[in-house]
Amino acid sequence: MSRGLLKRARVVAAAMQKGGVGKTTTILNLARAAALRGLKVLVIDFDPQGNTTTSLAAEPLVPKQLTIADAILPDEDEPEALADVVIKTIWSRVKVPDSEPERFGSVDLAPATLKPLAKAEKLINASSYGRESRLKQALQPVLGRYDLVLIDNAPALGILLMNALVAADDVFAVSEADEWSADGLAMLADTVKTAKEHYNPGLSWSGVLISRWRNTGPEKYWLQVIVDNFKAGPVWDKDKIPLWSSIKATLSAGKGMDESKEARLRVLARSYRRFVARWVHDEELTV
Ligand SMILES: Nc1ncnc2c1ncn2[C@@H]1O[C@H](COP(=O)(O)OP(=O)(O)OP(=O)(O)O)[C@@H](O)[C@H]1O
Ligand SMILES: [Mg+2]
Repeated sequence: MSRGLLKRARVVAAAMQKGGVGKTTTILNLARAAALRGLKVLVIDFDPQGNTTTSLAAEPLVPKQLTIADAILPDEDEPEALADVVIKTIWSRVKVPDSEPERFGSVDLAPATLKPLAKAEKLINASSYGRESRLKQALQPVLGRYDLVLIDNAPALGILLMNALVAADDVFAVSEADEWSADGLAMLADTVKTAKEHYNPGLSWSGVLISRWRNTGPEKYWLQVIVDNFKAGPVWDKDKIPLWSSIKATLSAGKGMDESKEARLRVLARSYRRFVARWVHDEELTV
């Protein structure tokens, strides 16, 4: 489906309050995979750590850079338009493979930096009305410009995550197969339930992406526990993302896995195309 046929972007949030499970890595790979399909993608860095921003921004941020924090301030603090916050990325123009005539996808970024986003979080928490819908409101005017909005969340269950869940059409968890992640998924499912019940009944649980997989015995055990216990949505246990140092190295070098010399990485890049196809249907998508 080409962008023109979509009325507005699909908004997809990656969540898991456990840190270091692979959320940012997943968002980067999904953004790349979607751009390779010719989609217009907006990535929202919604984590004060700003890892997505560091990985994706085409230019270093300037000292007074507008960031996502400026777009979600409570009304009395005069938020900026999200469109004015968005910057170019290393993947602003990605050629669709084998397209003739040539077609291009793109990835834009609403960047984040530590202090402003931490401060915005405090201001939102202290504000009286609409604190859960700051991101939804900020996003509304730009949804027509994109096919897919991907929100990378911090490892936390606070007001920023709630804002992401209120703004999103779909949420998926990124999880390792271990005990802490299994516990974390249960808590995350409760948070998503709260978001649905109170603010966003249309929010849909896409599933659980298993990340940093090493195929160990304990992982197999905990994966089974997760599959048996997680009932909010499917666990994507057929498309597990392996723990390979070359994944990290490729992204650190500003490359997509599709550009890697390693054949297994290029194959893995196609898994992300399958994930994208779950949210943005494309009749031509052959994965
Ligand atoms: N599949 C993988 N193979 C190898 N390294 C990976 C993989 N996934 C993630 N990593 C590495 O693991 C670390 C944590 O990953 P990442 O930053 O994506 O997690 P995160 O969930 O976004 O973390 P945080 O909760 O702090 O935001 C990073 O150094 C990343 O490069
Ligand atoms: Mg992260």
